[in-house]
Amino acid sequence: MTAAIIMGSDSDWGVMKAAVDTLKSFGVEVDLTVSSAHRTPQKVHDFVKNSSAQVFIAAAGMAAHLAGVVASLTTKPVIGVPISSEPFKGLDSLLSTVQMPGGVPVATVAVNGAKNAALLVVQILALQDETLAKKLIAYREQMAAAIELKDQKLKEALS
Ligand code: RP5
Repeated sequence: MTAAIIMGSDSDWGVMKAAVDTLKSFGVEVDLTVSSAHRTPQKVHDFVKNSSAQVFIAAAGMAAHLAGVVASLTTKPVIGVPISSEPFKGLDSLLSTVQMPGGVPVATVAVNGAKNAALLVVQILALQDETLAKKLIAYREQMAAAIELKDQKLKEALS
C-alpha cells in the first residue's frame, strides 16, 4: 500500500512531515514529491499519471490549486491539505482547496491538517487491509487511554 504526497513547495515540509510520520507509523509506504500546479504543471501531470499509489495527498498554500489539479488527473481519492501562509493565514488555501466544482471532489482537511490527512489515507486503505484496520482500532484505543490519563492527572492535581 502506497500513499503519494505532493507538496507545492519545500516550504510546506514543516507541516507535512506529520503526514509522512503518521503514514510510516502505520507501515504505509510514502512516495513524496515537491511539484507545483502553477510552477511545474507538467511534472504534476506526469507524477499523477505514472503513480501506482492508491491515494493522493496534495498540500499547498496561497492560491492552492494543487489538490484540485491532482483530482482532475485521477479517479483515485485525493485529500487536500490547505497550508497556512501570509497574509491570509490559510483562509486563501482553504477556500482554493475545498471549493471544488461538482464532479471533481477533493476531501479537504483542516488548515495544516497533515496528521488527519494521513489518518484518512489509512482509513481508506484499511477498507481493503485487515492489518491496517486493526492498527486503526488500536490507535483509537491508545488515544482514548491517553485522554483518560490526562483526565485523571488533572483531577489528582485539583484534589
Ligand atoms: C504554494 O505557495 C506552496 O505550496 C507554498 O505553500 C506557497 C509558497 O511557496 P514558496 O514561495 O515557499 O515556494 O504553491
